[in-house]
Amino acid sequence: MALAGKNILLGISGGIAAYKTPLLVRQLVQAGAQVQTVLTRSALEFVTPTTLAALSGRPPRLETFDIEAESAMGHIELARWADALLIAPATAHTLARLAMGLADDLLTTLALATPASLFVAPAMNQQMWAHPSVQRNLTQLIDAGCRVIGPESGEQACGDVGEGRMSEPEAIVRSLIESFAPQRLAGRRVVITAGPTREAIDPVRYISNHSSGKQGYAIAAAARDAGAEVVLISGPTALAKPPGMEFVAVESARDMLAASQAAAPGSDVFIGVAAVADYRPAQQHDRKIKREKTGDMRIDMQMNPDIIHSVARSDRRPQVVVGFAAETNDALQHARDKRVRKGLDLIVVNDVSLPGIGFNSNDNAATIISAHEEVVLHKQSKDALARALISAIADLLDSQLAPTNPESAPQ
Ligand code: C5P
Repeated sequence: MALAGKNILLGISGGIAAYKTPLLVRQLVQAGAQVQTVLTRSALEFVTPTTLAALSGRPPRLETFDIEAESAMGHIELARWADALLIAPATAHTLARLAMGLADDLLTTLALATPASLFVAPAMNQQMWAHPSVQRNLTQLIDAGCRVIGPESGEQACGDVGEGRMSEPEAIVRSLIESFAPQRLAGRRVVITAGPTREAIDPVRYISNHSSGKQGYAIAAAARDAGAEVVLISGPTALAKPPGMEFVAVESARDMLAASQAAAPGSDVFIGVAAVADYRPAQQHDRKIKREKTGDMRIDMQMNPDIIHSVARSDRRPQVVVGFAAETNDALQHARDKRVRKGLDLIVVNDVSLPGIGFNSNDNAATIISAHEEVVLHKQSKDALARALISAIADLLDSQLAPTNPESAPQ
């Protein structure tokens, strides 16, 4: 009964995924929630008010100016009653109305009038989902504090395959339950490095590596969702800037060092996920190097600064410093040594020689090593692994706060 005592306004807009909402209502009720459904006019094409009334125990609300319903509970009262407003499915049109702040029906009026958190579970054709206007509206909503659940990838009702399927009711209910859990990094400042670095040879060539940035971006999003103020310092990646955080774009290891040294002092957590190039060309040519007619070419390499080591030994060292170790052999032993050598609290090690995890993949498997224990995280999505790491960091922050000797505890 994880939602016992919670009042959920469930907004249903008019997409084919609305056929899943009776199941969603049932699962919310089973989790202990009181559910009031609110339908847009087009939702009526996909789901019947009778079904929703039977499952939620309350007649769905349809119109802003329904005298009978309004006299039972006015829409402002309804907006105040809610602990969360969940819109599932959220169509492209409804996302646009929400982003614009329109109040042209009961659902959008409630979205403006409620002090409760807004959750949307988008559902639409993959082409629509990818449209810049939809993504812009979504970014705007996230920046305003809205939480987005899904969508998932797969076969769509229209026959297309791609991203845009509404998340399954269980996943939606799980996200809602998680959101009511206390935000474990609220009030904390977390600085994260992600992606590769690029080390210029000349104006058109560089040395880099295969890091996609996916794991670092997922950790940044998980820290943000746990309530932290996040600074994401990223080398060049193909990923969109995640909303709801400060984003610093860098190219080389030396740029990343400067950005880290500017952001890390005074922060609570530093997580070095970036695959920083260990060496850079000793000389960077101002002009493109011309091909010689014969003979080979040599590039002298010079060692790059170790960013995380510099943060870990700085004066205003963050309370928790976390590094990553991508290894191809003797992963655990190398990582244990590296944790101590670099002065880290935690190191997350993964064996990048294993198929289906690590660089560029959407999944990862890792072991989190601290001074006291080693926790194995089996193969899972990079998002799930990110949440597990954030929870381990929150545990560490909490344990560092907990007084070990009650007599020395501040009064
Ligand atoms: O020594 P290695 O490169 O394997 O260390 C990996 C860890 O150290 C990662 O957390 C990475 O972000 C960090 N690192 C760094 N600066 C470097 C090299 C690695 O911050 N120059």
